[in-house]
Amino acid sequence: MAKIGNIDVGEFPLLLAPMEDVSDPPFRALCKEQGADVVYTEFISSEGLIRDAAKSVMKLDIYEKERPVGIQIFGANLESMLQSVEIVEKSGPDIMDINFGCPVKKVVSKGAGAGILKDIPLMVSLTEAMVKHTNLPITVKTRLGWDADSIKIVEVAERLQDVGASAISIHGRTRVQMYKGEANWAPIAEVKNNPRMHIPIFGNGDVDTPERAVEMRDKYGLDGAMIGRASIGYPWFFKEVKHFFKTGEHLAPPTMEERLDAARRHLQMAIDWKGEKLGVFETRRHYTNYFKGIPHFKDYRQKMVTSDDAADVFAAFDEVEKEFSGYQFV
Ligand SMILES: Cc1cc2nc3c(=O)[nH]c(=O)nc-3n(C[C@H](O)[C@H](O)[C@H](O)COP(=O)(O)O)c2cc1C
Repeated sequence: MAKIGNIDVGEFPLLLAPMEDVSDPPFRALCKEQGADVVYTEFISSEGLIRDAAKSVMKLDIYEKERPVGIQIFGANLESMLQSVEIVEKSGPDIMDINFGCPVKKVVSKGAGAGILKDIPLMVSLTEAMVKHTNLPITVKTRLGWDADSIKIVEVAERLQDVGASAISIHGRTRVQMYKGEANWAPIAEVKNNPRMHIPIFGNGDVDTPERAVEMRDKYGLDGAMIGRASIGYPWFFKEVKHFFKTGEHLAPPTMEERLDAARRHLQMAIDWKGEKLGVFETRRHYTNYFKGIPHFKDYRQKMVTSDDAADVFAAFDEVEKEFSGYQFV
């Protein structure tokens, strides 16, 4: 059984990765329904939070039904990070996560995200200060290192544990790799195999089939898998992995009815949460996967992703239902 602080997250938990403009409350709710054991918010700027920037503050919204939920923040300034710990606490998450892995230039150039991999003492001292500043478990999400020549993740993880981190999720790429090449899970296994480590080590990067999740568990011996891209437009991925763990067999893919139900609910929840304009816009990226594999689907998809009007998107779903009801996905 893996535990994050006092929270029991089950045996080999599946965690929904923090993803900007993806891991919002509606999508997290769908992933939770489909078996995600822990869900994380997208990253939230500590500087934005302390300025009370509306966009950052809105990202703190959580639903009861998605617990346990972690709120992820990023920043490199001690004072801002500590102030945002206090702000985050007020929205009542179960876990607080620090983003030490974002490779994007505008984040890294301020020394935040993966930028901190160039200053390990700061990474450790920020973590320590945050742990001391809250009773919530603090988890860390990071990468293997800045570049291939600076992979010190075994030592880094040990130091983070020593200052009180409750779990570490490691993306098996360096900052320099961004999202290129294949994730390398061997250094993550080295972290896990360090006899001094006792907190959960979650693997991340390229878990895109149930077989890969089994490999992460059995070959690499990690404590859980954090899943990002494979879940976009496909929240069923969590359930499929769990079914495969239990039976060694693949679950039948979701039916057209289930896909339409998810797409409709997703859009409705997104509109309820962030209004029609943003809700319609930000749910678009999921449709390709929701309806992947249907032949001659281009025109329908086009209707879903070009209109700013929710009624048009719902009408497109209705058309799909009429046209493809009973379609067998493989
Ligand atoms: C669209 C998108 C947004 C992301 N945003 C975040 C983020 O806000 N915080 C974070 O720690 N990682 C972020 N990531 C990285 C993912 O959490 C994850 O580490 C990465 O996608 C590798 O896992 P995967 O192969 O399962 O997708 C993002 C990734 C994607 C694709």
